[in-house]
Parts: sequence; structure tokens; C-alpha cells
Amino acid sequence: MVNDIKKILFDEKILSQSIKKLGKKISEDYKDKNLLMISILKGSIVFMSDLMRSITTHCIIDFMCASSYDGGCKTKGVIKIVKDLDISVCNHDLLIVEDILDSGLTLQSIMNLLKNRNPKSIKICTLLDKPTKRQVDIIPDYRCLEVPDEFIVGYGFDYQERYRNLPFIGVLKQSVYENSAS
Ligand code: IMP
Ligand code: MG
Repeated sequence: MVNDIKKILFDEKILSQSIKKLGKKISEDYKDKNLLMISILKGSIVFMSDLMRSITTHCIIDFMCASSYDGGCKTKGVIKIVKDLDISVCNHDLLIVEDILDSGLTLQSIMNLLKNRNPKSIKICTLLDKPTKRQVDIIPDYRCLEVPDEFIVGYGFDYQERYRNLPFIGVLKQSVYENSAS
């Protein structure tokens, strides 16, 4: 598995340091609020589990899974909720925890959907930001690290569902895509 990685962008130490710093900031900002952290499945689970443990104020968590309607082509921006929240968002200050803000289409749809349910407030927290790929006007309230326009895997990020379990974030070798059947 590790042999499929061209280069490591962020190792475990950098990830841990930047997430702890972010957790401290969120703890201060939400100390008098009613924080509900919403992890967007599946990519954000590793980030979520580290981030929530670096938050020192009370919070509750829930999960949501959205998928593209158009069978893999993400550019249409129409999403289907595969798994909805269990907890009602009323009276909560929502923090959407996402793996990466790329085109922004997924997050925009999720934001619109959740805003309609009248939470107290709603903000976005993303581990990575790929600003060069943005198609909609969406700016994260919190972000850890910026990435160049390369396909990354590890620390929750997948290629065909694999590599999520790598403890670092790296760039996949091109030969892996080329040799892949689909
Ligand atoms: P969007 O384009 O901002 O809607 O991003 C949709 C989703 O695509 C993200 O939540 C990621 O799960 C996935 N994604 C975007 N860029 C990458 C990447 O470089 N590697 C792996 N998954 C990615
Ligand atoms: Mg995702």
C-alpha cells in the first residue's frame, strides 16, 4: 500500500499539531455555545476523531452521508442524503466537519439543507482546502491545511475506497490510476 504513494504531503506530526491548534480555537469560540459536530462520511472520520478529542468544551456528535446523484460525476452538485442526522439541529450550533473543500458543491448542498432546519448557527470546518478547484462561493470558517491540485489519499481520503487507513496524507502515484480497471 505505501509503495503506491508518490510523496507524503503531511505526516502524522504535522497533522496532529495543526488539528490540536484548531481544536483549541474551536474550544474558545464555542465555550458558551451548544456545539453539535457533524462529520460528513466517510472521508472525515479520521479527522473528526482527532479533532473532537482536542476540543475541551462540551459537544455532541452526529454523522451524515451524502452522495452524488449522477453516478460519480461530481460536477452537477446534486446530492442525495444516504444517511441523515439522528439528532435534531434545533437549538444547536452546528459545526460541519469535512475532509476537503474542493469544488465546494457537496458542502454547499449540505449547508443549504441544514440551514432550512433552522439551527442556532452553522459553520464549516475542513481539514484540507483546495482553493484552486472551487466552483461555488464558499469559504470555510475553519481549516487546517491548504493542498495543491493533486489527488491525495490517506488519513480518511480514499481512491476507490482504499488508502483511508494510511496515517499520513500523500499523493497517489499516477501508475495506480492507469493500472486501475475503472
Ligand atoms: P467537492 O468537490 O468539494 O464537492 O468534494 C467532494 C468530495 O470529493 C470530498 O469530500 C472528498 O471526499 C472528495 N475529494 C476531493 N478531492 C479529493 C482528493 O484529492 N482525494 C480524495 N478525495 C477527494
Ligand atoms: Mg467527503
